[in-house]
Amino acid sequence: MRQVFIFDTTLRDGEQSPGVSLNVEEKLEIATQLARLRVDVIEAGFPVASPGDFAAVQAVASQVEGPTIAALARATQKDIDKAWEALRHARKPRIHTFIATSPVHMRCKLRKSPEEVLRMAVEAVRYARSLANDVEFSAEDAARSDRGFLCEVFAAVIEAGATVINIPDTVGYSTPWEFADLVSYVKARTAGIDRVTVSVHCHNDLGLAVANSLAAVTAGATQVECTINGLGERAGNAALEEIVMALKTRQDYFGVSVDIDTKHIYRTSRLVSSLTAVFVQPNKAVVGDNAFAHESGIHQDGVLKERTTYEIMTPESIGLPESRLVLGKHSGRHAFNEKLKALGYSLSKEEMEKAFNRFIELADKKKQVSDRDIEAIIQDELVTTPAFFELEYVHVISGSHAVPTATVRVKNGDSSVEQAACGDGPVDAVLRAIDAATGMQTHLVSYSLNAVTGGKDALGEATVRVKDNGNTYVGRGTSTDVIEASARAYVQAINKLVHNRRAFSGRLQNDATPARGTDEPVKKVEGE
Ligand code: KIV
Ligand code: ZN
Repeated sequence: MRQVFIFDTTLRDGEQSPGVSLNVEEKLEIATQLARLRVDVIEAGFPVASPGDFAAVQAVASQVEGPTIAALARATQKDIDKAWEALRHARKPRIHTFIATSPVHMRCKLRKSPEEVLRMAVEAVRYARSLANDVEFSAEDAARSDRGFLCEVFAAVIEAGATVINIPDTVGYSTPWEFADLVSYVKARTAGIDRVTVSVHCHNDLGLAVANSLAAVTAGATQVECTINGLGERAGNAALEEIVMALKTRQDYFGVSVDIDTKHIYRTSRLVSSLTAVFVQPNKAVVGDNAFAHESGIHQDGVLKERTTYEIMTPESIGLPESRLVLGKHSGRHAFNEKLKALGYSLSKEEMEKAFNRFIELADKKKQVSDRDIEAIIQDELVTTPAFFELEYVHVISGSHAVPTATVRVKNGDSSVEQAACGDGPVDAVLRAIDAATGMQTHLVSYSLNAVTGGKDALGEATVRVKDNGNTYVGRGTSTDVIEASARAYVQAINKLVHNRRAFSGRLQNDATPARGTDEPVKKVEGE
């Protein structure tokens, strides 16, 4: 059976989503999980874009085993050198270089003639092949390019050594029929096409990214580029979990195989959602909260009699534990450990101990601790960013006739600082008090509060996004007390900010500034 390779670009195209910013440790955590999911390729970043991207690609390349590790580069020697420098220690490195081929991109963005673009593409691929054995070439905005020119470019880059050619629908403009036709056209009219992997990369502006990717598979594409939860710029990229489950569930129709371990889908989705703070809509296919929920009596009756009446895939196949059994304060360490295993976590002894203590604390306040509660506290405890500041205590006075006032105590190394502040409301007062205690000034971009489960005693999950010097940092905190959850979230965002400043201070401008004016601007540049 023909195999379709799954190329995950959550860490590169996904991270280009507005408000999403992952640090090196978070990218490494996601990449490790993607390797468990057994994706074929992880696109780890765009090394020339920022020191953070460079460091993340380097870390993933040297530490994550299994998948091919790819890094993006524009069609310039400088970008390719940077990508290779970051990638070179990967067991299976791939340089992914691209240039736009559509009339509007060439004329208005690149200000280059088709001949110049063709020459740059060939030179870039030839140069990349002098460094790496595996080189992917993408014709950006291929779906709006002239088909004859597109095939000419692809034939030339194959001749120059490309091992993968990628057909992106960069602006999500195509329709499934048209896109399948484009793939067939390229396959029929490009010299040397049989020697390379034919890849597609679809955006979701018209909600057709998954449909277009699947249509491309029926036309013979052998690699699909996608992201977890469909994360990505604007309306996002094609969702990995939807493509994989469609190809698996309808293997009878597509007749292709994928090597994904689908039991890791749910856990990967939750991890990406939690670290990016981009929530998954409840009715999202495959990984949404309601994807396997049956509400109507007729459906419930049908499923109870025979599951396949209303379920085309099982929750277990994506790693949703069958039993939604809740734990309580009498559940011991053994039950807790079993639950973690069922949820797909493999924690060290020390992490397990911390998580168990948080669980006991929570079980004391809440009668029943659900899977969702456990996931939330694990995400809290598994933060990979060093805790420069730790919240020791928060106290708030608030009410309809009181001036909201907060006192906090924050530990920094061996010393603790106590500060008080007033604010517009209790959360504002707490954040101001934390600013005073940490000596940090940040700009709060967004704040949201969710109940992790139903019930009046539910855990509150606060998410904040703060901005500093052009960079965004996300913090999450959970507690049955929403003010404490907010304070925890804010302290976590500040810790990430401090961590980033320490990791990249002094390197921001010199190392990272990409060559402006020679090509299109880099999409996201830290520190500018
Ligand atoms: O959407 C796009 O065209 C891209 C390319 C760089 C592959 O992300
Ligand atoms: Zn893209």
